[in-house]
Amino acid sequence: MVPTIEIRDIAQYAGQKVLIQGWLYNLRESGKLLFPIFRDGTGLLQGVVAKSAVSPEVFERVKNLTQESSLRAEGQVREDKRAPGGFELDVTNVEIIQCIPPEQPYPISLKEHGIEFLMDHRHLWLRSSRQRAILGVRHEVIKAARDFFDDRGFTLVDTPIFTPAACEGTTTLFEVNYFDDKAYLTQSGQLYNEAAAAAVGKTYCFGPVFRAEKSKTRRHLTEFWMLEPEVAFAGLDEICALAEQLVASLIERVLENRQTELKTLERDITKLEPCRELPFPRITYDEAVKILQSHGSEIQWGGDFGGTDETILSQHFQKPVLITRYPTQVKAFYMAPDPERPELALCIDMLAPEGYGEIIGGGERIAGYDLLVKRLEEHALPREAFEWYLDLRRYGAFPHSGFGMGIERFVGWICGLEHVRETIPFPRMLYRLTP
Ligand code: 4AD
Ligand code: MG
Repeated sequence: MVPTIEIRDIAQYAGQKVLIQGWLYNLRESGKLLFPIFRDGTGLLQGVVAKSAVSPEVFERVKNLTQESSLRAEGQVREDKRAPGGFELDVTNVEIIQCIPPEQPYPISLKEHGIEFLMDHRHLWLRSSRQRAILGVRHEVIKAARDFFDDRGFTLVDTPIFTPAACEGTTTLFEVNYFDDKAYLTQSGQLYNEAAAAAVGKTYCFGPVFRAEKSKTRRHLTEFWMLEPEVAFAGLDEICALAEQLVASLIERVLENRQTELKTLERDITKLEPCRELPFPRITYDEAVKILQSHGSEIQWGGDFGGTDETILSQHFQKPVLITRYPTQVKAFYMAPDPERPELALCIDMLAPEGYGEIIGGGERIAGYDLLVKRLEEHALPREAFEWYLDLRRYGAFPHSGFGMGIERFVGWICGLEHVRETIPFPRMLYRLTP
């Protein structure tokens, strides 16, 4: 019996006969030799088909194969130092599953295509080496993040997607019909995380969140995945430490396990290596404003940072930078004020280096009932929808802190991508809902 194998395991089968299942990536022809390159989702493998070694039918079959046709190929694995993966397949037989007719070829040829064309064909574009590398890094980041929290005694508690109220502000809510009522798609699991933190102490959620943001920037999606820890009795300092440890450990894991992918992406990893080392620089909002003004930004104290401001700040440091204590007025209703300067919130934003901008936002939450009620009024939020949230302050109110990290922003930085659209398999943006 010839074993069916995955290309990534090819080294274990040197000298043996194997069967691989996959697609034709490319085909070169040189006289009496054909050089098909196969891909199976785990790697690429060059085959050699010699006219003298196979039947005339098999030779013709391979010769007429078109890019991305699906097939099974049988042959002998041969070590070859010059081959890209170190091995080649001396093909003895090829069985075609589906041959794409030449008059209707695979739309994405190996030449360059425009980004809109590629995005329209995202369902096929995912097969490219570059997209596969990004998918691999994304997978590693998610797995490493789960390990990080699981190893520290956090309990994963899933939060709902249909919600009755806003978490991050009413302007970016997607409204949906909910039987005879209306609901909103969640912007963040945070409010539910706070309830879970009172139940299990340390919790996290990881799921899709939605923002009806009319921003057409390289950092914005309307649907993205957020990783959100919440810790009972933690303050700003503890949550800053948790955030930097998380980021350093994710970088470490990607550098450890995904060198091949980073190479495919031509990522300059010397830029990532310092980010494994703690601590990260920490500055206050006040200091950030001074840095920005010295770089010619128009920002005045009290304003929020714009996209360009974020870029300036994140190019100013070699490592991610933690910015604490923003003015309360630019932050969400739940932010705890600094007791020494109540006009400031006990919050953090972490900005990734190399101009990538904000990857993490969070801080300490208001623990007391009265102040929270006052803030709901100031933000004109509907009291009824928040009654359950106020219960967390009626029954055993407790100091607690947490943050959220957008997986796509993080992956975009690690992979060195220009735009977050490539970091999620099927991006949803202001002007894109397909495929
Ligand atoms: O700063 P944000 O809005 O914070 C929250 O939602 C908090 N409730 C989280 C918490 O404390 N549990 O969003 C957190 C992160 C940002 O730092 C960014 O990485 C990402 O989510 N993010 C986006 N990513 C892609 N597209 C968008 N439109 C994003 N908006 C935020
Ligand atoms: Mg934010």
